[in-house]
Amino acid sequence: MKIAVIGTGYVGLVTGVALAEIGHTVTCIDIDSDKVKTLNHGIPTIYEPGLGEMMQRNMQNARLFFTADYARGLDRARVVYLAVGTPERPDGSANLDYVRQAARDLAAHISHPLIVVIKSTVPVGTNYKIQRLINRLVPEDMRVTIASNPEFLREGSAIHDTFHGDRIVIGTDNPAAAEVLEEINRPFGLPILHTDICSSEMIKYASNAFLATKISFINEIANLCEKLGADVEEVAQGMGLDHRIGPDFLKAGIGYGGSCFPKDTHALVQLAGNHHHDFNLLKSVIEVNRQQQRLLLEKIENRLGGDLAGKRLAVLGLAFKPNTDDMRESPALVMVPELAKRGADLIAYDPIASGRAEQLLGQVAVFTNHVDEALREADCAVILTDWPDIRKMEPETYKRLMKHAIVFDGRNCYSPNEMRRAGIDYYSIGRPN
Ligand code: UGA
Repeated sequence: MKIAVIGTGYVGLVTGVALAEIGHTVTCIDIDSDKVKTLNHGIPTIYEPGLGEMMQRNMQNARLFFTADYARGLDRARVVYLAVGTPERPDGSANLDYVRQAARDLAAHISHPLIVVIKSTVPVGTNYKIQRLINRLVPEDMRVTIASNPEFLREGSAIHDTFHGDRIVIGTDNPAAAEVLEEINRPFGLPILHTDICSSEMIKYASNAFLATKISFINEIANLCEKLGADVEEVAQGMGLDHRIGPDFLKAGIGYGGSCFPKDTHALVQLAGNHHHDFNLLKSVIEVNRQQQRLLLEKIENRLGGDLAGKRLAVLGLAFKPNTDDMRESPALVMVPELAKRGADLIAYDPIASGRAEQLLGQVAVFTNHVDEALREADCAVILTDWPDIRKMEPETYKRLMKHAIVFDGRNCYSPNEMRRAGIDYYSIGRPN
């Protein structure tokens, strides 16, 4: 089937490449012509394992195209996906400016009736608004049908998730559109759930809010474990064996970041508030997440003293999670300036995101993509992202390279016993030291 995808950001690019991979002919449209030029050279504009190869293969097979020209991109397309960003506004609500603009641009170039699929995460009710917006702008015989098809991919494992996801949700009131979308998605071989539009929009927010709740819950348990002498890893394991709870998203740490959980939890609180519903549970989830970084800072201060002047601190990991260079809402954006404020000499390591982190954080630290360089002669190391190379590092490496082997681990990368045996003063989250 011929498909157009508007927006080549994270969701749009992965969607376009995946739809081409399962046999559709896809044209991705983006108003940023520099981006289109890069993509047309077969170079992905985001870091995502496996994406480049899949993209190049489908371009070579003439199933995947990129253009800044709406008319060309929409030519003979039966379905168009809207996958532009919905960033957070200062009040926490979702900013729909890009979605509206893309809808207007689309309306200006429609030459035949289309199914418009909204992939972007949008507040409940937005699909209807976008349908009305487009249909007001086009002649009667060009009216579009709208469908909601939220995205559940995780950054860093987007390709794997596309082909091994738990479900595909299709929300539409139009049975013919539901049929077409079922046909498009069938080759993925995943369970497909058909719902009404508002429920589909809500599934996306409710899923992210629930996962964020699991993380904040286990972080609160971890904080309590520290006080009571229990080990949160064992507690999570024991909880996760109950299939009603499940083992995933029970990893205690420095809290969640990224472009989705912080933004979507805030947006859902806002949306609830707009409808006179005080979503107290979710507000607490957000607050617990914020506190988690403060608690790690307190631990560092308790051990090293509030004044870190003259101390060399290695920060290990800057991206919000491994396998991505994404720094959005990364704990490092709070932790690095806070540590700098206390006078520490900071050397910050990330295998992929150190360049991007340097652009965002500037002069407050020296940035490197060599872990040895960060650890050499350091008085203390603070782990913020559990990159595989950090996880795999032998405890002896800390001992050998650092001046004082003091390690604060915000991601529980190591066994406290092993670290102790190696002579490291080791502090993690929710486990006995
Ligand atoms: C998240 C959801 O997992 C996806 O299903 C969803 O499609 C996506 O948001 C989105 O809305 O676009 P993502 O933000 O890429 O995906 O990353 P996750 O792997 O979910 O991690 C989010 C954050 O939670 C990270 O900072 C991670 O370190 C943290 N986390 C995750 C924990 O602290 N503990 C855990 O047990 C799991």
